[in-house]
Amino acid sequence: MKTDALKPQVSSIINQPDVVIKDKMQAICDLLQSAIATYDWVGFYMAHETEPTLHLWNQAGEPTDHTVIPFGKGICGQVAVSNANFVVDDVHAQDNYIACSIHVKSEIVIPMFKNAKNIGQIDIDSNTANAFNQEDERFLEWINQLVAAQL
Ligand code: SME
Repeated sequence: MKTDALKPQVSSIINQPDVVIKDKMQAICDLLQSAIATYDWVGFYMAHETEPTLHLWNQAGEPTDHTVIPFGKGICGQVAVSNANFVVDDVHAQDNYIACSIHVKSEIVIPMFKNAKNIGQIDIDSNTANAFNQEDERFLEWINQLVAAQL
């Protein structure tokens, strides 16, 4: 399994002493983007404390203009409202989609919860269609739980 092999590295990032969580989140983005061939862009969008907007805290991959996303807009904004995983096999089949790159073909967004509140999400784009399955969902849920525990 491609993700099992990465769990020890994610754990060692999370367990580093004297490193702030934002830096650990960046290290996780860098690790996933470099280690998994179909993870072309990896980022964490986190909810504003009072406004209904998501803010890009970290990313690995091509820079994006979409650093702030209103709740309800795009795949990310829909997950901020639905609280549910969103696996998109073909982004071109989506009406409510924000394109960050013309190369992207599929996307996965997994919400992050703290005290049962949706506080943000991990978002991954792939230049390969149908790149994500339940293995990715379980792996990214696990990462989000580790991150949320330190926020
Ligand atoms: N495609 C996302 C926007 C974020 S980019 O993928 C980096 C969306 O539709 O919400």
